[in-house]
Amino acid sequence: MLVNTPPMGWNSWNTFGENISDALIREMADRMAEDGYLEAGYNYLVIDDCWSLRERDENGYLVPDPAKFPNGMKAVADYVHSKGLKFGMYSCVGIRTCAGYPGSYGHEYQDAQTFADWGVDFLKYDYCHKPAATDGDMLYRRMSMALKATGRDILFSACNWGMHESEKWMRSVGAHMYRSTGDIADNFKSYTDIAASQEYKQCYGAPQCFNDMDMLIVGMYGKGNVALGGCNDAEYRQHFALWCLFSSPLMIGADLRTLSAESKNLLLNRNLIAIDQDAEVRPAFRILKWDLPVYFKHLSGGENAMGVFNTSEKDHTFYCPLTDFGLCENSGYGMIFTDVFTGEESAVHTADFPVSVPAHDCRVYKVRLVKL
Ligand code: GLA
Repeated sequence: MLVNTPPMGWNSWNTFGENISDALIREMADRMAEDGYLEAGYNYLVIDDCWSLRERDENGYLVPDPAKFPNGMKAVADYVHSKGLKFGMYSCVGIRTCAGYPGSYGHEYQDAQTFADWGVDFLKYDYCHKPAATDGDMLYRRMSMALKATGRDILFSACNWGMHESEKWMRSVGAHMYRSTGDIADNFKSYTDIAASQEYKQCYGAPQCFNDMDMLIVGMYGKGNVALGGCNDAEYRQHFALWCLFSSPLMIGADLRTLSAESKNLLLNRNLIAIDQDAEVRPAFRILKWDLPVYFKHLSGGENAMGVFNTSEKDHTFYCPLTDFGLCENSGYGMIFTDVFTGEESAVHTADFPVSVPAHDCRVYKVRLVKL
């Protein structure tokens, strides 16, 4: 069993795009291993698009660009592994990748074996330049089988952006995670739109195959490959908390060498990570009293989580009615709310729980029942 909980790691695309190299990947591996990310669960280091030459060699093999990866890919994989991390790479169902490098169409079994020989543990598989006459699901089935044929445990991360109702068939083709949305950009509109589009899809994510809401933008602050505007710290809190409540894979996209202390603390917040990694992988349900999103999620061990998101432009106080969470007047029980950021515990509440949230910020709580 490869993936009981949503995969976690770092991916090169959001910040670096095509500007990747052996040296960069080694530095990122160092940061992951030495700065607490690996310890917190971020164990996959993934190189996204743009790592190869523009053409295959005369025998049809993919060739790492020697200007970017002068030691070849096995050496990079060995270094990543020496840090206790797992190593991920990228290809595409089509003739070409999204950035125009060779895709795996017609070379699936050859490429899967190449990846296995290099020591790859994770393959992100994109959806650009698919021959029009072929079915996308058939091409995902094919690479899934090709990875299996290598005999190596390789996490299969499909990326067809949620097209063709992929939530309904990605589990059946053997994917371990699959992009259920279009590409994220580093701004408020992008992550709030993605979250809204995923509410009803959450129920499809479960052990061995998780809905992927795309790589994280936490800590980019408007710099890098998908930076279109940037966010402030409150917005990054909303973004990260939403991904955790929705049990999305958590793939960091920022430069770990220059991350702000605020962003680092957020990405390493053990309470939020535990909500993301909860073994029961239950969808969060939405309280429909407000236009603004409030989610409640059952966790294992009798615990619960609640996230209150002020996506409006004004500060707002929510009076969360505990009946919506399952209490009733004669239950004989109340609820205690523990703030996941400050650790502060509330008094026992029996009717409602008032939460004041500044514009574009959130509050997230662990919630437990107490007998009155
Ligand atoms: C697509 C994917 C992105 C990234 C790029 C690379 O847009 O959705 O996550 O992999 O391709 O070109």
